[in-house]
Amino acid sequence: MSDVAKRNAALAALNLVEEGMTLGLGTGSTAAIFVDELGKKVKAGFDVICVATSEATDTQARELGIPMADLDTAPVIHLTIDGADEFDPELRLIKGGGAALLREKIIADSSDMMVVITDATKQVKELGAFPLPVEVNLFGMALTKARIEETLEILGMNGIQVTIRLNAGGVPLLTDGGHHILDLHCKVIPDPDMLGAVLDQIPGVVEHGLFLDIADAVIIGTEMGAETIS
Ligand code: 5RP
Repeated sequence: MSDVAKRNAALAALNLVEEGMTLGLGTGSTAAIFVDELGKKVKAGFDVICVATSEATDTQARELGIPMADLDTAPVIHLTIDGADEFDPELRLIKGGGAALLREKIIADSSDMMVVITDATKQVKELGAFPLPVEVNLFGMALTKARIEETLEILGMNGIQVTIRLNAGGVPLLTDGGHHILDLHCKVIPDPDMLGAVLDQIPGVVEHGLFLDIADAVIIGTEMGAETIS
Protein backbone atom coordinates (compact mmCIF):
# COMPACT_ATOMS: atom_id res chain seq x y z
CA MET A 1 0.00 0.00 0.00
CA SER A 2 1.53 3.27 -1.09
CA ASP A 3 2.07 6.16 1.30
CA VAL A 4 0.13 8.42 -1.08
CA ALA A 5 -2.95 6.17 -0.86
CA LYS A 6 -2.64 6.00 2.92
CA ARG A 7 -2.34 9.78 3.15
CA ASN A 8 -5.33 10.34 0.87
CA ALA A 9 -7.44 8.02 3.04
CA ALA A 10 -6.24 9.80 6.19
CA LEU A 11 -6.97 13.24 4.74
CA ALA A 12 -10.48 12.18 3.70
CA ALA A 13 -11.09 10.94 7.25
CA LEU A 14 -9.89 14.24 8.66
CA ASN A 15 -12.82 15.91 6.88
CA LEU A 16 -15.18 13.94 9.15
CA VAL A 17 -13.69 15.41 12.31
CA GLU A 18 -15.67 18.23 13.90
CA GLU A 19 -14.57 20.71 16.54
CA GLY A 20 -15.33 19.50 20.07
CA MET A 21 -15.42 15.79 19.19
CA THR A 22 -13.93 13.01 21.28
CA LEU A 23 -11.98 10.81 18.85
CA GLY A 24 -10.65 7.27 18.99
CA LEU A 25 -7.20 7.08 17.40
CA GLY A 26 -6.24 3.82 15.72
CA THR A 27 -2.93 2.02 15.46
CA GLY A 28 -0.72 1.20 12.48
CA SER A 29 0.98 3.09 9.69
CA THR A 30 -2.22 4.49 8.14
CA ALA A 31 -3.63 5.60 11.48
CA ALA A 32 -0.25 7.19 12.27
CA ILE A 33 -0.59 9.44 9.20
CA PHE A 34 -4.06 10.46 10.38
CA VAL A 35 -2.66 11.29 13.83
CA ASP A 36 0.11 13.37 12.24
CA GLU A 37 -2.44 15.35 10.22
CA LEU A 38 -4.70 15.77 13.23
CA GLY A 39 -1.70 17.05 15.18
CA LYS A 40 -1.27 19.84 12.62
CA LYS A 41 -4.91 20.86 13.04
CA VAL A 42 -4.63 20.83 16.83
CA LYS A 43 -1.50 22.96 16.64
CA ALA A 44 -3.52 25.47 14.62
CA GLY A 45 -6.09 25.67 17.44
CA PHE A 46 -8.58 22.91 16.57
CA ASP A 47 -10.26 21.54 19.70
CA VAL A 48 -10.62 17.76 20.14
CA ILE A 49 -9.99 15.18 22.85
CA CYS A 50 -8.64 11.77 21.87
CA VAL A 51 -8.39 8.25 23.23
CA ALA A 52 -5.64 6.02 21.82
CA THR A 53 -5.89 2.34 20.89
CA SER A 54 -2.26 1.63 21.82
CA GLU A 55 0.67 2.94 23.81
CA ALA A 56 2.44 3.73 20.53
CA THR A 57 -0.42 5.92 19.29
CA ASP A 58 -0.79 7.53 22.70
CA THR A 59 2.89 8.49 22.68
CA GLN A 60 2.73 9.80 19.10
CA ALA A 61 -0.38 11.90 19.83
CA ARG A 62 1.00 13.36 23.07
CA GLU A 63 4.24 14.32 21.30
CA LEU A 64 2.15 16.23 18.77
CA GLY A 65 0.33 18.09 21.55
CA ILE A 66 -3.02 16.35 21.01
CA PRO A 67 -5.08 16.38 24.24
CA MET A 68 -5.47 12.78 25.39
CA ALA A 69 -7.93 11.10 27.75
CA ASP A 70 -8.62 7.52 28.76
CA LEU A 71 -11.86 5.62 28.29
CA ASP A 72 -12.89 6.05 31.92
CA THR A 73 -12.77 9.83 31.70
CA ALA A 74 -14.03 10.02 28.11
CA PRO A 75 -16.49 7.11 27.78
CA VAL A 76 -18.39 8.63 24.83
CA ILE A 77 -16.36 8.54 21.64
CA HIS A 78 -17.96 10.30 18.70
CA LEU A 79 -15.70 8.96 15.96
CA THR A 80 -12.88 6.42 15.73
CA ILE A 81 -10.49 6.35 12.78
CA ASP A 82 -8.41 3.18 12.43
CA GLY A 83 -6.73 0.99 9.83
CA ALA A 84 -7.49 -2.63 9.00
CA ASP A 85 -5.70 -5.69 7.65
CA GLU A 86 -8.67 -6.86 5.56
CA PHE A 87 -12.24 -5.79 4.86
CA ASP A 88 -15.00 -7.62 2.99
CA PRO A 89 -18.11 -6.36 1.13
CA GLU A 90 -20.09 -6.35 4.40
CA LEU A 91 -17.41 -4.15 6.01
CA ARG A 92 -16.36 -7.00 8.28
CA LEU A 93 -12.71 -6.62 9.22
CA ILE A 94 -9.62 -8.47 10.28
CA LYS A 95 -7.56 -6.31 12.60
CA GLY A 96 -4.63 -6.87 14.92
CA GLY A 97 -1.71 -6.92 12.50
CA GLY A 98 -0.17 -4.35 14.81
CA ALA A 99 -1.13 -6.38 17.92
CA ALA A 100 -3.45 -3.64 19.19
CA LEU A 101 -6.74 -5.47 18.59
CA LEU A 102 -7.95 -5.53 22.19
CA ARG A 103 -7.93 -1.78 22.76
CA GLU A 104 -8.91 -1.23 19.13
CA LYS A 105 -12.05 -3.32 19.60
CA ILE A 106 -12.98 -1.81 22.97
CA ILE A 107 -12.70 1.69 21.52
CA ALA A 108 -14.31 0.92 18.15
CA ASP A 109 -17.21 -0.82 19.83
CA SER A 110 -17.87 2.13 22.13
CA SER A 111 -17.72 4.71 19.32
CA ASP A 112 -20.75 6.35 17.77
CA MET A 113 -19.02 5.91 14.41
CA MET A 114 -16.05 3.78 13.37
CA VAL A 115 -14.37 4.59 10.07
CA VAL A 116 -11.60 2.49 8.53
CA ILE A 117 -8.83 4.10 6.50
CA THR A 118 -7.07 1.80 4.11
CA ASP A 119 -6.46 1.10 0.43
CA ALA A 120 -7.77 -1.40 -2.12
CA THR A 121 -5.06 -3.99 -1.31
CA LYS A 122 -6.96 -4.78 1.92
CA GLN A 123 -10.24 -5.40 0.09
CA VAL A 124 -11.21 -9.09 -0.11
CA LYS A 125 -14.24 -11.10 -1.15
CA GLU A 126 -13.84 -13.40 1.86
CA LEU A 127 -11.83 -12.73 5.01
CA GLY A 128 -8.96 -15.01 5.99
CA ALA A 129 -5.94 -14.60 3.73
CA PHE A 130 -4.47 -12.33 6.40
CA PRO A 131 -3.72 -14.53 9.44
CA LEU A 132 -6.39 -13.90 12.08
CA PRO A 133 -4.83 -12.53 15.30
CA VAL A 134 -6.16 -13.91 18.57
CA GLU A 135 -4.95 -12.31 21.81
CA VAL A 136 -4.57 -14.90 24.56
CA ASN A 137 -3.75 -14.89 28.25
CA LEU A 138 -0.26 -16.14 29.11
CA PHE A 139 -1.69 -18.53 31.69
CA GLY A 140 -2.22 -21.90 30.03
CA MET A 141 -1.45 -20.59 26.55
CA ALA A 142 -0.56 -24.05 25.20
CA LEU A 143 -3.97 -25.34 26.31
CA THR A 144 -5.74 -22.35 24.81
CA LYS A 145 -3.88 -22.92 21.55
CA ALA A 146 -4.92 -26.60 21.56
CA ARG A 147 -8.56 -25.61 22.24
CA ILE A 148 -8.48 -23.20 19.31
CA GLU A 149 -7.02 -25.90 17.03
CA GLU A 150 -9.71 -28.39 18.13
CA THR A 151 -12.42 -25.78 17.59
CA LEU A 152 -11.20 -25.05 14.07
CA GLU A 153 -11.38 -28.79 13.26
CA ILE A 154 -14.92 -28.99 14.68
CA LEU A 155 -15.89 -26.11 12.38
CA GLY A 156 -14.48 -28.07 9.44
CA MET A 157 -11.54 -25.69 9.11
CA ASN A 158 -8.98 -28.49 8.97
CA GLY A 159 -5.20 -28.28 8.94
CA ILE A 160 -5.00 -24.62 9.90
CA GLN A 161 -1.66 -23.58 11.29
CA VAL A 162 -1.76 -21.59 14.53
CA THR A 163 1.47 -19.75 15.28
CA ILE A 164 2.67 -17.72 18.25
CA ARG A 165 3.61 -14.22 17.13
CA LEU A 166 7.22 -13.35 17.96
CA ASN A 167 8.75 -9.93 18.45
CA ALA A 168 11.89 -8.68 16.67
CA GLY A 169 14.00 -10.43 19.33
CA GLY A 170 12.46 -13.81 18.49
CA VAL A 171 10.48 -14.22 21.71
CA PRO A 172 6.67 -14.22 22.04
CA LEU A 173 5.39 -10.70 21.55
CA LEU A 174 3.70 -9.04 24.52
CA THR A 175 0.72 -6.81 23.78
CA ASP A 176 -0.02 -3.55 25.59
CA GLY A 177 -2.32 -5.60 27.83
CA GLY A 178 0.47 -8.09 28.67
CA HIS A 179 -0.87 -10.96 26.55
CA HIS A 180 0.43 -13.01 23.63
CA ILE A 181 -0.93 -13.22 20.07
CA LEU A 182 -1.74 -16.42 18.20
CA ASP A 183 -2.09 -16.03 14.43
CA LEU A 184 -4.59 -18.36 12.74
CA HIS A 185 -3.53 -19.02 9.15
CA CYS A 186 -7.05 -19.73 7.91
CA LYS A 187 -6.59 -18.68 4.25
CA VAL A 188 -10.40 -18.41 4.04
CA ILE A 189 -12.93 -17.92 6.86
CA PRO A 190 -16.20 -19.34 5.46
CA ASP A 191 -18.35 -18.08 8.37
CA PRO A 192 -16.75 -15.18 10.28
CA ASP A 193 -19.78 -14.82 12.61
CA MET A 194 -19.56 -18.45 13.65
CA LEU A 195 -15.78 -18.38 14.12
CA GLY A 196 -15.99 -15.14 16.11
CA ALA A 197 -18.72 -16.57 18.34
CA VAL A 198 -16.84 -19.80 19.12
CA LEU A 199 -13.54 -18.00 19.78
CA ASP A 200 -15.41 -15.78 22.25
CA GLN A 201 -16.35 -18.93 24.20
CA ILE A 202 -12.82 -20.31 24.67
CA PRO A 203 -11.36 -19.58 28.12
CA GLY A 204 -7.98 -17.91 27.74
CA VAL A 205 -8.99 -16.04 24.58
CA VAL A 206 -8.87 -12.38 25.53
CA GLU A 207 -10.04 -11.05 22.14
CA HIS A 208 -9.90 -11.88 18.46
CA GLY A 209 -9.32 -9.74 15.41
CA LEU A 210 -12.69 -10.28 13.71
CA PHE A 211 -14.46 -6.92 13.83
CA LEU A 212 -18.01 -7.77 12.78
CA ASP A 213 -20.83 -5.20 12.68
CA ILE A 214 -18.44 -2.55 13.99
CA ALA A 215 -17.21 -0.51 11.00
CA ASP A 216 -19.64 2.08 9.65
CA ALA A 217 -17.58 3.04 6.62
CA VAL A 218 -14.32 2.25 4.85
CA ILE A 219 -12.35 5.02 3.17
CA ILE A 220 -10.22 3.53 0.39
CA GLY A 221 -7.29 5.74 -0.45
CA THR A 222 -5.93 5.76 -4.00
CA GLU A 223 -3.08 7.56 -5.77
CA MET A 224 -5.59 10.18 -6.91
CA GLY A 225 -7.89 10.61 -3.90
CA ALA A 226 -10.26 8.46 -1.87
CA GLU A 227 -13.61 6.74 -2.13
CA THR A 228 -15.88 5.80 0.75
CA ILE A 229 -18.01 2.70 1.04
CA SER A 230 -20.62 2.35 3.76
C1 5RP B 1 -3.21 -2.80 14.39
C2 5RP B 1 -4.16 -2.86 13.26
C3 5RP B 1 -3.88 -1.97 12.10
O1 5RP B 1 -4.93 -1.10 11.95
C4 5RP B 1 -3.70 -2.80 10.86
O2 5RP B 1 -2.65 -3.72 11.09
C5 5RP B 1 -3.41 -1.95 9.62
O3 5RP B 1 -2.16 -1.35 9.73
P1 5RP B 1 -1.52 -0.51 8.54
O4 5RP B 1 -2.28 0.75 8.44
O5 5RP B 1 -0.08 -0.28 8.97
O6 5RP B 1 -1.59 -1.35 7.30
O7 5RP B 1 -5.13 -3.56 13.25
O8 5RP B 1 -3.51 -3.75 15.38
